[in-house]
Amino acid sequence: MHTKKITIDDIKSVKILLRVDFNVPVQEGVIQDLSRIKHVAPTIEFLRKAGSKIILASHWGNPSGYEEKLSLKYLIPAISNIYNANVVFVDDCLEKNASDIIDAAAPDDLILLENLRFHLEEESCCCNFAKKIASLADFYINDAFSASHRRHASICAVPKFLPHAFGLAFLDEWRMLDYFFHNAPVPKMTIVGGSKLSTKINLLKNLVKKVDKLALGGGIAGAFLAYYGNDSLKMFHYEEYRNDITEILKNAQECGCELILPVDFSALIHKHDHDNRTIIYSGNGKTSVFDIGPESVELFRRHIRESATVLWNGPLGLFEKTPFDFGTLSVAQEVAARSREGKLTSIIGGGDTAFAMSKFGIDQDLTYKSTSGGAFLTYLEGNSLPGIVAMENPLTLVN
Ligand code: 3PG
Repeated sequence: MHTKKITIDDIKSVKILLRVDFNVPVQEGVIQDLSRIKHVAPTIEFLRKAGSKIILASHWGNPSGYEEKLSLKYLIPAISNIYNANVVFVDDCLEKNASDIIDAAAPDDLILLENLRFHLEEESCCCNFAKKIASLADFYINDAFSASHRRHASICAVPKFLPHAFGLAFLDEWRMLDYFFHNAPVPKMTIVGGSKLSTKINLLKNLVKKVDKLALGGGIAGAFLAYYGNDSLKMFHYEEYRNDITEILKNAQECGCELILPVDFSALIHKHDHDNRTIIYSGNGKTSVFDIGPESVELFRRHIRESATVLWNGPLGLFEKTPFDFGTLSVAQEVAARSREGKLTSIIGGGDTAFAMSKFGIDQDLTYKSTSGGAFLTYLEGNSLPGIVAMENPLTLVN
């Protein structure tokens, strides 16, 4: 795929614009998960060995212009701590002094550009903007697989102006998803959860043709159950997706993919009794459910034990809130245990799912944990990513 190689010697003392995705989740000003910052460690290590000057460029959130609370300066302590480096901050990548600040930084410093989305030209993929940020460096590396479904300047236009390569974390993720499609051991199982069916329709349409088992949880499962005529649970709308569900089920049958749906649920019957869950098999049409129940967990676990590969996107219930984390946690523990024993290849992706795995402390047991959300879905839907297409003739980093 990539023929020309670039070694540490080739980029000694070169200024590298490293596109990362430090779009980390925050709640009430507190960063919830640092995985995305840690994720690019292999590329940063590589560039440090080469003695390159590293200019980190990222977006954070969806600001429309400058928004103090989305300033990347708030990530400086975390970056500095994770990489044991002094972080030099560039307030405005378009200001004349940006180059001077970069030139004055010490070789071991990490240079961090302010949130790219403070400039509206980032999202409009403006070529002039891309040219200006490209002029800060000699070489471009995209290590932001998770942002590469966006046709934005720092992803799709900068590579036009600089020699470029994919970062090591990017390549890992790309290879892993390709491996899942083409070479991962069978039987392959996919677990899809999450609350909104609308965001997973295309994913289900594609995966159902590629896997042996498809287990559904969360609101997605509720919508399929409602389609089958189960009207005992509240709030699972499927009508506008009736044709899509019909198509998914037809394809599942034709391709020999077994569909696994929850058989029991965890509900909150007494409104104020937040610590207690009630297990139900069906409700009265007004019953809100927040998790899958213990029998469903056993069912999912049995299918995991029968599988050689599991790809999982989307939590099975309200994992942020005990006791409704039970389903996601118990299934995650099975995936982790089988992976640890070397009996399962496990690939987990999606912002919430990745966060749940960190929260449960099982990251290190999984074969691969993606930090991507939309990009992971886009790729698994069978689409190419604009950020991949934009990299014409990329070089390959080799140690
Ligand atoms: C993500 O979190 O999926 C990426 O960082 C892209 O962010 P966006 O959805 O705000 O474009």
